[in-house]
Amino acid sequence: MDSDGPGLHGYLSRPEAVEYEPYGPVGPDEADDLARQRAADQRFWAVQTAAETLVGNLYLAPSGPEWWQSWELGYVFHPYHWGQGYATEACQALLDAVFDDGAHRVVAHCDPANLRSWALLERLGMRREGHSLRAAAFVRDPSGRPLAGDPSGRPLARRVHLCAARRGVAREAVTAPGALTRPGDRPASRGSAGCA
Ligand SMILES: CC(C)(COP(=O)(O)OP(=O)(O)OC[C@H]1O[C@@H](n2cnc3c(N)ncnc32)[C@H](O)[C@@H]1OP(=O)(O)O)[C@@H](O)C(=O)NCCC(=O)NCCS
Repeated sequence: MDSDGPGLHGYLSRPEAVEYEPYGPVGPDEADDLARQRAADQRFWAVQTAAETLVGNLYLAPSGPEWWQSWELGYVFHPYHWGQGYATEACQALLDAVFDDGAHRVVAHCDPANLRSWALLERLGMRREGHSLRAAAFVRDPSGRPLAGDPSGRPLARRVHLCAARRGVAREAVTAPGALTRPGDRPASRGSAGCA
């Protein structure tokens, strides 16, 4: 929702929440802007408790040509709410919805050092498929070239990304190109603020 700015700032301002994201901690004004942008962006899903506390957000975007019916999953949750199963429950609901809608494959990219994220992906039944070296750079020099390190000092060579795909999704009955709809509003989360 447009008004999710403060809630979004509550976690995107924390270094541990954005350590593996392609941006640094977010300030309050930027969080307000992001909340407004993402409220209108169908790729983002806010996750809240029954008491309407914003605990995190999901990201689910088409991956590749539409007829591939493939999606990429991302998520960020408030560190205060880590370790309680919120991410598992929310991701599972979104995966169920998108596979019910005919998805063929869902992938996620994860830094191998991001152990919590790996644990989550594997809880969701995803498997490690590939190991890409120097596949992403989150900082550039003034000329736009990727730098061989990030602000934390971690060298780019270690920022490898692995690809995970949900197990058992080799559904042959792929529907016609264009038939895949977005997840709609079935999961407990609602479209709003977030990040990949
Ligand atoms: C990745 C991230 C979402 C994982 O969060 P998380 O809290 O570890 O994941 P869950 O919400 O599924 O919680 C799992 C934990 O809750 C426990 N739990 C309690 N009830 C549970 C339930 N009903 N279902 C599942 N797990 C439950 C699990 O045992 C597990 O505990 P553990 O951490 O001691 O092993 C979180 O660390 C995060 O937001 N990180 C920053 C953003 C980021 O790195 N994004 C990914 C970029 S690739």
